[in-house]
Amino acid sequence: MVSFTLNGKPAQVDVPDDTPLLWVLRDTLGLTGTKFGCGKALCGACTVHVDGAAVRSCSTPLSAVANAQVTTIEAIAATPAGKAVQQAWSAHDVPQCGYCQSGQIMSAAALLAKNAKPKDADIDSAMSGNLCRCGTYNQIRAAIKDAAQSLEKGA
Ligand code: FES
Ligand code: FES
Repeated sequence: MVSFTLNGKPAQVDVPDDTPLLWVLRDTLGLTGTKFGCGKALCGACTVHVDGAAVRSCSTPLSAVANAQVTTIEAIAATPAGKAVQQAWSAHDVPQCGYCQSGQIMSAAALLAKNAKPKDADIDSAMSGNLCRCGTYNQIRAAIKDAAQSLEKGA
């Protein structure tokens, strides 16, 4: 049995400790907003926050989140950075097929929560592990910059 906080509420799951967090979220807890891409920490589709940091849930064993705060795409709008990112994503019409976008938003929100005025190099570094087969990279960058501006204005 592993206990943690999921999207602000207590969660307890009774599956083997080495089960990847991604499958606990999707299969055990029914939160399917977090996506499976590669399963090898190479694409970023499965990104969630653990204690505020962007992590690849496909390669994070359940045991690693014991007593931690886990946030998924389903609750990211409850954070100021996550809300700003989602609004900017919508304004820039970022998603195409959408498959990678939960992970993109989670990485962008983790970046802006730590660094409200990211430079291009900061954005590159935070987002380089999130792949998009539809090539939405330019819109993503523009949306992150807009989200940073709205956070600065307190919007
Ligand atoms: S599914 Fe986790 S990084 Fe690709
Ligand atoms: S929007 Fe299609 S993979 Fe990124």
